[in-house]
Amino acid sequence: MLAIIGGSGLAKLPVLEVTHRQVVRTPYGDPSCALTFGRIGEQNVVFIARHGHGHSLAPHEINYRANIWALHNQGVKGILSIGSVGGIRADMGPGTLVVPDNIIDYSWGRKHTFFDGPERPVVHVDFSNPYDDALRSKVIEAVNATGKQAVSQGIYACTQGPRLETAAEILRLERDGADIVGMTGMPEACLAREMNLPYAHLCLVVNWAAGKGGSATVDFDPATAEAGISDVTAVLLAMLR
Ligand code: HPA
Repeated sequence: MLAIIGGSGLAKLPVLEVTHRQVVRTPYGDPSCALTFGRIGEQNVVFIARHGHGHSLAPHEINYRANIWALHNQGVKGILSIGSVGGIRADMGPGTLVVPDNIIDYSWGRKHTFFDGPERPVVHVDFSNPYDDALRSKVIEAVNATGKQAVSQGIYACTQGPRLETAAEILRLERDGADIVGMTGMPEACLAREMNLPYAHLCLVVNWAAGKGGSATVDFDPATAEAGISDVTAVLLAMLR
């Protein structure tokens, strides 16, 4: 069973034929919301809305450990994370689907490891390549099967939020090598790695990052939003057929 973590704009998955929901408690507290089980195409899927029902959790308030623990506890074989991002690189304007291949983490103060506390061993997981290549390939193939061209490489910068970045911060991220910027990709990805769960990220660019043209706002144009959500839905259908 594949797990899907939905981001802003994707608190529900219209293509999911829901079978049941389950409230899960974890040693790390409560996940963002109940898990939703169902089928997309031929495949069983478990879905969680990262920001909770009604989008009530800001990026720094999300209990990433509880979410990943809850999904791992269901025996999922991998996690497809969906997130909205700002575009930094010139070919990553609003509406683009990006499957990043690496991460720079600028977030702070988030509970970002399962390996802490007095009784736990210290473990340093290998995170050179934070995403799972096989799962990334499947996502990229699925995007291409829908007729859209995925940008199949890019560096995801995770900022703390909830405010958007300054134009100067975006220039710094760009100098660092970042191509897209979001607020929720970390510590989600590294917690999945600590659980040995293959993890890939499908990012929908919803705005130009600050100073990169237009005004950076995550309240992006509704028409772009709607098109983006239907593109993501088409990718899921193509992937899970
Ligand atoms: N910055 C950070 N996170 C985001 C953005 C942005 O411009 N757009 C969507 N999520």
